[in-house]
Amino acid sequence: MASSEENEMYSKKQWEGCMEIAVQTARTAGQVIREAFKHEKEVSTKSSPVDLVTETDRLVEDLIISSLREKYPSHRFIGEESSAAGEKCLLTDSPTWIIDPIDGTCNFIHSFPMVAVSIGFAVNKELEFGVIYHCLDENLYTARKGHGAFCNGIQLQVSKETDMSKALILTEIGAKRDPATLKIFSGNMERLLKAQVHGIRVIGSATLALCQVASGAADAYYQFGLHCWDIAAAAVIIREAGGNVIDTSGGPLDLMSRRIVAAGTVEMAHYIAQEIQTITYERDDHNAN
Ligand code: IPD
Repeated sequence: MASSEENEMYSKKQWEGCMEIAVQTARTAGQVIREAFKHEKEVSTKSSPVDLVTETDRLVEDLIISSLREKYPSHRFIGEESSAAGEKCLLTDSPTWIIDPIDGTCNFIHSFPMVAVSIGFAVNKELEFGVIYHCLDENLYTARKGHGAFCNGIQLQVSKETDMSKALILTEIGAKRDPATLKIFSGNMERLLKAQVHGIRVIGSATLALCQVASGAADAYYQFGLHCWDIAAAAVIIREAGGNVIDTSGGPLDLMSRRIVAAGTVEMAHYIAQEIQTITYERDDHNAN
């Protein structure tokens, strides 16, 4: 009978195979998105007038999930568009694929070239690997727990900056636009600007912004209102590049909480977590039971 260590080794090897499939699947999805990028898009709204979806988001999610499900029928799937269509967003101990078919849908609609496919994978609620494919410049970000993070095969390393007055920070706006939310959002930016950070950028794709932190091009990222499919793959990539991914309360990251601070250094992650005020969003797993 196999020992528990042997079983664990076997599982790890299995996840390596899953990651290879994730890479192939992300590349195939990327081709579809690249082609659709050139054409007129059919746009509709989801939870708010600025929460957008196109026929390509749905098509690509179907393509990704159906091809993975065929290979891994016992695995579970969480996808942005399936969740929007009412499927439960539930993370269990089962091997689970967490998918954003097009991260940067608003960019995609406007032909603003920051658009990615994101595929994360968790087992026992632990993130095992992440694959993010920037469809237009063809940068492929990958990381597997314990094996480092890479972009097109080149190892990634986060920034070692601890001084806020030398930091380049990224954030995203989120879908809520009521006056109280906007006041907190701008107050958070104002506090960081008063700390004399070099700059704050909003690029319209949470996953690609998080990849910039992994590659050291940005020192930190924070956001309220993103989803588990924006976080899953990127969290592994940042951790494997030597970075920190925490909850905005300063505690451990909670994949379903819709909030994140990521930074190259622990100091910067905690500084930002302390400075920013919370914007409350309904958890991703609010409908899980
Ligand atoms: C969104 C984008 C956006 C961020 C949102 C995400 P989507 O993902 O990453 O920049 O502000 O929170 O949900 O809808 O383009 O997949």
